[in-house]
Amino acid sequence: MFVTFEGIEGSGKSLQARMLVERLRGHEVPVLATHEPGGTPLGDQLRQLVLLREDLAVTARAEALVMCASRAQLVAQVIQPALARGEVVVCDRFADSTLVYQGAGRGLDMHTLAAVISFATAGLQPDMTILLDLPVEIGLARKHTQPAGWNRFEAEALAFHSRVRDGYRALAAGEPERWHCFDGHQPADRLSEEIWRAIATRLGLTS
Ligand code: TYD
Repeated sequence: MFVTFEGIEGSGKSLQARMLVERLRGHEVPVLATHEPGGTPLGDQLRQLVLLREDLAVTARAEALVMCASRAQLVAQVIQPALARGEVVVCDRFADSTLVYQGAGRGLDMHTLAAVISFATAGLQPDMTILLDLPVEIGLARKHTQPAGWNRFEAEALAFHSRVRDGYRALAAGEPERWHCFDGHQPADRLSEEIWRAIATRLGLTS
C-alpha cells in the first residue's frame, strides 16, 4: 500500500508521517518512509537547488519539472521496489504537491501538470492520501517559530498559501475515496490516533 501525506507549510504532516511509520513498525508491518522533493541522491541535489538557493531564478515551469524529475527518480529507485517487496510506503508529499503548489499556487495548467506527473511516475498513484488541513495563518505561524534559513515556498505571500490550501481541499473533494482529511489544528497525539484508525482499518490491523 502506498500512503502519502499532504498539507500546507506547518500542517504537521512530517511529524504525523513519522508517528505513523513508528506505529506500523510496532505492529511489525514492513514500512518504507520517504519524502519529496528528495529521497534519492539525485533528488536530494535537486531539492537543494529548488528550495534553498535564493540566488537562483527558477520559473514555475522549471520548478514543476524539477519536482517531477525528483519524483521520477524516487518512484523508480525507491518506491516501486519497496511496493514490489510488499512494504507499506509512507511518503511525505507526492504528486498532489505539484498540482497544488505549481498548479493552484503558481497558476500552471492542472491538466498539463497531470500529464507531466503521469510521465514522471509511470502512472503510480497513492492508494491513500492523508490531508492535514488548517488555516494558513496558523501553519505559517508555526513555521516561523522554528529557526530556519530561506526557503523558496515559505518566502511566498499568504495569498499563495491560501491558493495551495484551497487547491488541496478541491482535490480532496474530487476524489473522496483516496483522500482522508483531518483537522491539522489539534494536538499531535489526537491527530495521530485519528490517522492511525483510518490506516489500521484499511490494513485490517487491530488497535
Ligand atoms: P519541505 O522543507 O520538505 O517542507 P514541508 O515540511 O512543507 O514538506 O519543503 C518542501 C517544499 O516544496 C514545500 O514548500 C512544498 C514544495 N513542493 C512543491 O512546490 N511542489 C512539489 O511537487 C513538492 C513535492 C514540494
